[in-house]
Amino acid sequence: MEIAGVALQPGDGVVVPLGLANRDPEIFGDPDRLDLARATARRHVAFGYGIHQCLGKPLARAELQIVLPEIFRRLPKLCITVPLEEIDFKQNTFVYGINTLPVAW
Ligand code: HEM
Repeated sequence: MEIAGVALQPGDGVVVPLGLANRDPEIFGDPDRLDLARATARRHVAFGYGIHQCLGKPLARAELQIVLPEIFRRLPKLCITVPLEEIDFKQNTFVYGINTLPVAW
């Protein structure tokens, strides 16, 4: 088969960037807008998919459900202090993230 002009041979590997899949406009309309209630939200692949899907997924979800409400309860004025363009995003990594995030509270 061929993907984007590249002919694949039997046995070739294909690595799909998860961040790209999570911003597929055919699945997630207006993909750069944070919309936790979007109807297709459950179709994200942030934890991977298939046999190597993240083993820590239930723990990660529990931690986030506990930490996020608590941090905003304790620090109601928490905010990012630099514009988006100055945030130090990780480059060349499989899992999306940032190196530093200057904040104030
Ligand atoms: C928000 C937090 C997390 C995210 C976004 C995340 C995401 C991922 C992703 C994308 C993979 C790779 C899937 C692949 O190879 O195709 C993975 C694998 C894995 N994760 Fe996580 N993870 C998180 C938290 C955790 C935690 C808290 C643990 C353990 C305490 C954990 C343990 C693992 C393990 C053991 C694998 C390898 C599974 C395998 O290869 O069979 N993860 N995770």
